[in-house]
Amino acid sequence: MPITPQELIANLGDLPPLPQVATQVLRVSADPDATAEDLRKVISMDQALTSQILKISNSAMFGMMREVTTLTQAIMTLGFSTIKSVVIASSAKNLYHRGTVGLQERLIWEHALVSAIASRAFAKSLKFPRVEEAFIGGLLHDIGKSVLGVKFPERYGALLRTVYNEGAICQNMELEMFGFDHAMVGEALVSQWNLALSLQTAVRWHHDPIHASDDHRELAAIVALANHMALEQKVGIGDPAHLDGANQQAMEILRVGPEALSSLKEGILAAIEQDKSMIAEF
Ligand SMILES: [Fe+2]
Ligand SMILES: [Fe+2]
Repeated sequence: MPITPQELIANLGDLPPLPQVATQVLRVSADPDATAEDLRKVISMDQALTSQILKISNSAMFGMMREVTTLTQAIMTLGFSTIKSVVIASSAKNLYHRGTVGLQERLIWEHALVSAIASRAFAKSLKFPRVEEAFIGGLLHDIGKSVLGVKFPERYGALLRTVYNEGAICQNMELEMFGFDHAMVGEALVSQWNLALSLQTAVRWHHDPIHASDDHRELAAIVALANHMALEQKVGIGDPAHLDGANQQAMEILRVGPEALSSLKEGILAAIEQDKSMIAEF
């Protein structure tokens, strides 16, 4: 019997909160009257975040042409919605790293970043209007794995090792062990963080985009394509063949045939290649 979201939260207990600075950045960037100065004030209270934003502003990932040395410059050039992505990326990274241990931790984080870059690139090529949302969806799709790693370090660490060493299907093992999988846990977290419903939906249905609600099915499909592609590139833990169904659904939802998909992927591979050093550093 499927578990209800209430039971899931009850089983998991408290979920990791979104750091306060991130909450404030989200609030300010959603306010149409907010200025770059308002955003600067909030971010500059967090030294680590400030230097991360500067570093990222200067990386190929965000395509900057000239050196960015101040936060104001970074905000002006990247824009509010990209800054929002960077701040969520930084919060997600902390959580990804608090979760599982050792090799798995690194692989899951790299998988998140590559999926984010690929999602954004798919969104751009397919003329999906909210590319930054696609980036965040890619970044957070497996965040439930980190929550499980934080909550059940021993059992979940063993589960991931089995997936990695024996090619088991992660979500099936999770369902057996806990009665819910990382997509459900991720949805619970993203909803607790008060992120958009579209993101909650994309995280929940990244293995079955066909089940996403009409309004958010395209975003779920983009994330599913990106997830599959990252695994094909051997970035992450898991066999892409286990997600061929999700990939097929996504192609139908987005009306992309096999040939169009492979030519899209060529361009996206170049984007990933360009951002490799950034991925290693982030
Ligand atoms: Fe997943
Ligand atoms: Fe994934």
